[in-house]
Order: sequence, then C-alpha cells, then structure tokens
Amino acid sequence: MKSLFEYLCASVSLWRSTPCKKQVGIPALPIMKPLAKAPVEMPRSGIREILDLAQALPGVIHLEIGEPDFATPEHILTAANDAMRAGFTRYTANAGMLSLRQTIATKLANHNRIAATPDHIVVTHGSMGGLALALLALLEPDDELLVPDPGWPNYYMMAFSRGISTRPYPLLRKTGFQPDFAALESIVTPKTKVLITNSPSNPTGAVFTENTVMSLLQFANSHDLYLVSDEAYEHIVFEGTHTSPAAHDPDGRVISVFSMSKSYAMTGWRIGYVAARPEIAALIAKLQEAYYACACSISQKAAEAALAKDQSCVRMMRDAYLQRRTLAVSILKRHHLDFCTPQGTFYLLVSITKCDMDSYQFARNLLEKKKVAVAPGATFGRAAEGYVRVSLAASPELIETGIESLCEFIHEHTRG
Ligand SMILES: Cc1ncc(COP(=O)(O)O)c(C=O)c1O
Repeated sequence: MKSLFEYLCASVSLWRSTPCKKQVGIPALPIMKPLAKAPVEMPRSGIREILDLAQALPGVIHLEIGEPDFATPEHILTAANDAMRAGFTRYTANAGMLSLRQTIATKLANHNRIAATPDHIVVTHGSMGGLALALLALLEPDDELLVPDPGWPNYYMMAFSRGISTRPYPLLRKTGFQPDFAALESIVTPKTKVLITNSPSNPTGAVFTENTVMSLLQFANSHDLYLVSDEAYEHIVFEGTHTSPAAHDPDGRVISVFSMSKSYAMTGWRIGYVAARPEIAALIAKLQEAYYACACSISQKAAEAALAKDQSCVRMMRDAYLQRRTLAVSILKRHHLDFCTPQGTFYLLVSITKCDMDSYQFARNLLEKKKVAVAPGATFGRAAEGYVRVSLAASPELIETGIESLCEFIHEHTRG
C-alpha cells in the first residue's frame, strides 16, 4: 500500500509534468482549445516542489527555502504603518515613487559605485518582477539567453515560459564557481543576446572577483550582449567584495537588478529595483504598466525607510549568516562530508555523490525519513546534480538539528 508521503510525491510530480486533463483527483476539463504549451510544459522549481511536499507534513525542518527567518526591522514596519494610516494606498507612477528612486540613486552611488538618476531606475514587484520584465524588454522569441549552471532555476523558467532558448554556461567547482570563459566562448552564437550573471550566487555562494566581472563585461562587449546582473545577495558577503558590473560599464549594456528581500528580510513585501540606461528603464516601466501598473505603494514607503535609514540591521543579519555558516561547516567537517563553503549568500551545497540516489530522490527520501527539507541540486542545472542545497536562513537550532540529520542520512546511504 502507498504511504501518504508517496501519494503527496505523486501528486506534486503529476502537477509538474502532465497536462491538466490527466491530473489525478481533478475533474477532466471539458474539451476546449489547449492551454498555452510553454507554461504548461515549464518545469517547476525543485525548491518549491520540495516546499509543497514539506508543508503538507508536520514538524519538518525547512532548509530548502531561501527566506530570512528574521522579522522585518521595526523602523521599516513603522514606515509602512504610517504610510497606510496616512492613506498612501493608491497606485504610484509606473516606475515607482520619485522619492524612492532618488533614495535608490543615492544607495547605488554609495554602495555600488553606479552613477544613476531616477530616470535610470524602476521599482518592481520583487527582483523577480525586475528580472522578468528586463528579459521581456530585451528578448525576442528567436533570441538565446546565457544562464549560469549551477544557477537559480527561475531564469530558465522565465525563458521557457516564453519559448526562449537558454544556453547554460558552466561554473566549475574547481575554479571556485567562477565562469569558464572558454566554455562561454564555445556556446555563444549569433542568436545570443543576453547574459545573466548572479554574484553572490544562488546556489554556489561564490562571489565573482572584480577581474571576473571585468572579463564578463569584455565578453559581453565582444559579442554585443546585454548583461543582466542579478544582485539579490549583494549585502551577504563573507569573503571577497561585491562588484556591480554596472560600475564598470562604459556603454550602458548592463541591466542591474536588486532586491529588498534578502538584505532587509522583506521577502513578502515584494520590492526590487532595476537600474539601466534610461530608454531600457522606460521600456521596463512601460511593461510594468501592462502587467501590474506599479509595485505596492505601502511597500515602496517601507523600502524607502529601509534604504534611507540606519543600515545596522543589514550588517547584523549578515553577521548572523556568517555564524550560521561557521556552525554548518563545523558539523559537516565533523562528519567528514564533502561540501562547498560559500563566500556569500546563505546557501551551502553538500555533495551526495557517494549516495545511491539522485538529488531529487535524495531530497524526497530525506524529507520522508528525517523530516528535513533541502533543495535538490538538479533544479539548479546539470552541474549541480550530485549536490543538495542547504539554506542557512533558518535559526541556528534548526540548522544544527537539520544538518545533523542530513549527515546521518548521507552516512546511512553511502555506497560500499
Ligand atoms: C538569485 C535570486 N535572484 C532573485 C531572487 C528573487 O528575489 P525577490 O523577487 O524576492 O526580490 C531570488 C530569490 O530567492 C534569488 O535567489
């Protein structure tokens, strides 16, 4: 007889891969024209698949999702509350409040060394909104997109849902997950139009050196590519320094995408922002008009307070993630396991190559047997099969219990 967990797994994977009318437990649709092929066939993010399974079970330790466990700092809550009470509850300009864009311009100058005026900036629905609209503004169906492997699965999903081809470029562990330029040269084609970079990187935790960033810009320039730089983890750096490609961009080919989610524990507020040449920014703001008008007005006020006021909360959270990294590393070392120490972000890849299962099977079995949720490596691309990603955005107590169970499980399933 199937266990409850097996039924859950079956329903999640059926939802992922079968057309609606064959879904188990959902009444067949009347005969109609088919739904759009690309979104129906788009694979889901393995992070969310495991999260869905984990949420259906009691007592799970969540190390799959990249969501800070900190509360949004008090002064940010106060700003939102004041805005709401003062009736700041209407649409704003497509590109976002002018005062917020001015505050962002100051932050970009001081923190990222990017020279920008409000005309360069669009406030978006999370950085996901910024990434999606930037890709919409840049790519035609026949164009190709270069995505990092390992890399955040949503880049691939955004492209797939529009029928746009992606070409994964390898980030190799032996070079500290920095890009392999020979490989990049070998996969670029005349159809390639956009290169996505993500440093500090989810899931590898690598921070690109300034030299790497300069070489990426040179590569983009020599092939006339736009460079979309996802800087969601810009503040969570333990070793090295974060370099924004736009700080060294002479000709305006860089579109920089930033997030309030991770730096300020504001995932649910859904605020990100894009900095780009004014005509690209204007196009993104125009697209925003078509899809969702503007980012949430109250959240924009919250973001303005977050960026304008004391930044000690950002440093406090970064220091806490560093302590959690130290904790995780000490447990993994004690168990003599193979893992990649991140230079930034709050993710850590743990090798499972000695186990007798792939990363999806591993994540499902770990969840069922030990009640610990981790992200399967394969969702980040071929290069991350053989790993699971552990999120250190949970409390130290949960990290300790969760990683101890993960280590036990790896030992129990190590071949030979
Ligand atoms: C690499 C990367 N970019 C962007 C995002 C999206 O962040 P948000 O839309 O919450 O700003 C995430 C979220 O996990 C991420 O890991």
